[in-house]
Amino acid sequence: MNGRSTEVFQIEKHPNPVEAEKRETLLQNPGFGRVFTDHMATIQYSEGRGWYDAKICPRAPFSFDPATLVLHYAQEIFEGMKAYRLPDGGATLFRPDANARRFRNSADRLAMPLLPENLFVDSVRELVRIDKEWIPSTDGSALYLRPFMVATEAVLGMKPSPEYLYCVVATPVGAYFKGSAPAVTIWVSDQFTRAAPGGTGDAKCGGNYAASLAAQAEAIREGCEQVVFLDAVERRWVEELGGMNVFFVFADGSLQTPPLTGTILPGITRASLITLARDLGFVVREEPYAIDQWEADAKSGRLVEAFACGTAAVVTSIGRVKGRKHEFTIGDGGAGQVTGRLRTALLDIQNGRAPDHHGWLDRLF
Ligand code: PLP
Ligand code: COI
Repeated sequence: MNGRSTEVFQIEKHPNPVEAEKRETLLQNPGFGRVFTDHMATIQYSEGRGWYDAKICPRAPFSFDPATLVLHYAQEIFEGMKAYRLPDGGATLFRPDANARRFRNSADRLAMPLLPENLFVDSVRELVRIDKEWIPSTDGSALYLRPFMVATEAVLGMKPSPEYLYCVVATPVGAYFKGSAPAVTIWVSDQFTRAAPGGTGDAKCGGNYAASLAAQAEAIREGCEQVVFLDAVERRWVEELGGMNVFFVFADGSLQTPPLTGTILPGITRASLITLARDLGFVVREEPYAIDQWEADAKSGRLVEAFACGTAAVVTSIGRVKGRKHEFTIGDGGAGQVTGRLRTALLDIQNGRAPDHHGWLDRLF
């Protein structure tokens, strides 16, 4: 059951949208999450009324009472997805139903109301349609969509809020990782963990990211682009990066990725790559992989590639791994061949250059 809603979005167009010339300049080099479109989608929720007041309106700041619950206890969840430009000038979403389902799972874990799947998908569709001129068409870029929900009751009692605000904003994006290196270097955190069994690791809540920032800052200080977390119990099993899942590619042509045991985010890119890799004839295992084994396999040549994957990062080779107890290079430290094949296979579907055999695209216009 996903509780279909019949709520219809009211459209309020921006009276002064960004001028076309300025928008085109911004779209040339948008970076990641710095430039925003003209509109946003919002829906209100209250315990008595349910979901109401769905609208697309000019993007504008919110005004919150200082006692608003989300500001104190971080009752917040979010999603990340993209709209892609198609060769004929149209545009598509990629598996928005999967994001809608994950949003509901995250809400459930954070004791928040479950947004009906159709309202989630419609909010994103309507926003992209009204801001369609903001979808970049340069290779490797897309319109990143950020649905999120916050607890809005103004009271300091430690309890689930009876009121919420759901919102979607959109930002044209290029590559997530700055720089032109063919592969990233990652830092093994031995001091911090990301999620423990029974925690919120498989929910996409802001708190997980706040808790990962000290480890990510350490990674940057150590000259790495991202942090990789080990499991919280044995401090041994590779879980995921701060904002991406991880895959390993072996010399025998097989692939492996950590299993979804509740402490890692079930990535939609991860799920799609498992399917695509199997379509291409690769054996894919969802099995735990120990950090010491990773180092030994990289050094012996049994492991030939590793990559990070996610909506923001797409598919990015990992060339080197560093940590207080670890230092190794994977393959020749550059972009992996299998990694490149999978990246191309995924991007070709998302950009409409290859057939969509799995029905993953949700064409907008
Ligand atoms: N893991 C974490 C912690 C993330 O933040 C993300 C990004 O959303 C992912 C994995 C990849 O998920 P997806 O492929 O659905 O973007
Ligand atoms: C995404 O890939 O959508 C994320 O939310 C990850 C974040 C690091 C931007």
